[in-house]
Amino acid sequence: MPGEPNAEFPPPARSLAPLNPSPGLRSPLPEAPAPLSGVPAPLLQVQALRKEYKTGRGSLVLFDNLNFSVFPGELVAIIGESGAGKSSLLHLLGALDAPTSGKVLFRANDALDSHAKDGHADPIDLCSLPPNLASEFRNRQIGYVWQAHYLLPEFTALENVAMPLLTREEDRKPSLAKALDRLSEVELADRADHRSGELSGGEQQRVSLARALVTNPRLLLADEPTGDLDHRTSEVVFSLIERLHAAHRLTSILVTHNPAFARRCTRVFQLRDRRMEEISPKIV
Ligand SMILES: Nc1ncnc2c1ncn2[C@@H]1O[C@H](COP(=O)(O)OP(=O)(O)OP(=O)(O)O)[C@@H](O)[C@H]1O
Ligand SMILES: [Mg+2]
Repeated sequence: MPGEPNAEFPPPARSLAPLNPSPGLRSPLPEAPAPLSGVPAPLLQVQALRKEYKTGRGSLVLFDNLNFSVFPGELVAIIGESGAGKSSLLHLLGALDAPTSGKVLFRANDALDSHAKDGHADPIDLCSLPPNLASEFRNRQIGYVWQAHYLLPEFTALENVAMPLLTREEDRKPSLAKALDRLSEVELADRADHRSGELSGGEQQRVSLARALVTNPRLLLADEPTGDLDHRTSEVVFSLIERLHAAHRLTSILVTHNPAFARRCTRVFQLRDRRMEEISPKIV
């Protein structure tokens, strides 16, 4: 897929498991009631989520009966020991993988072009989206930042940032103009013509942050975005995430092993022993 401008971006990390029968994109969901006036509805609502991998040596249950909500504007940290299932969970929240059971409800008026035509704001169960809609949803609603930058080496920084727009066949010129805006926001406009190999690790990660935001997503998902960086560069990248989270009025969920960064989030969830526990950012 790298090098193919028409390939989906971001790539699905893991293939989607068989779909639930009759997902019914617009079916009313009584378990997600309309909000009381003045109380925001959650952007994401996780219900009874279970993830189990079948392996040659039996089954591995990563988590079971996870229930939590994330509200618009929140900056949420997910922490937990290596192997606890943080990345697997993030893939489910980002419609990149299917759970064994449970739901991930996403509420946005314009979550999908096809969904929004009559102004419906019922939540969409990301676990039930057919692959073509899941792909459209990911492109329009979610920005992803991974520990590795996954920039395409044969393209410039500017083209890499524009890639999510180019892959959905938007015109090249406005796409590149928007990409340049985002590169400016991460203070890398002067590196627009560099290829990824001509950028430092911190710069590569800032380019991937610009790429994540080029589509104006609702939700930013970041999996150890500073995991490969030194202390000082980590601080630069995390501060940028904080700044852009606020500037773009994002809802952001980031997995981190860095307690100092978790403490700067509005809420902290700890994944441990197959369960999710909310803890105060003050005691991380
Ligand atoms: N496709 C898969 N098939 C089987 N087991 C898997 C698969 N993907 C992940 N696992 C296992 O699931 C467990 C959780 O993996 P995951 O990557 O979600 O952990 P993590 O909390 O993100 O860890 P880290 O902090 O090291 O990144 C691990 O033990 C891993 O080996
Ligand atoms: Mg991980």
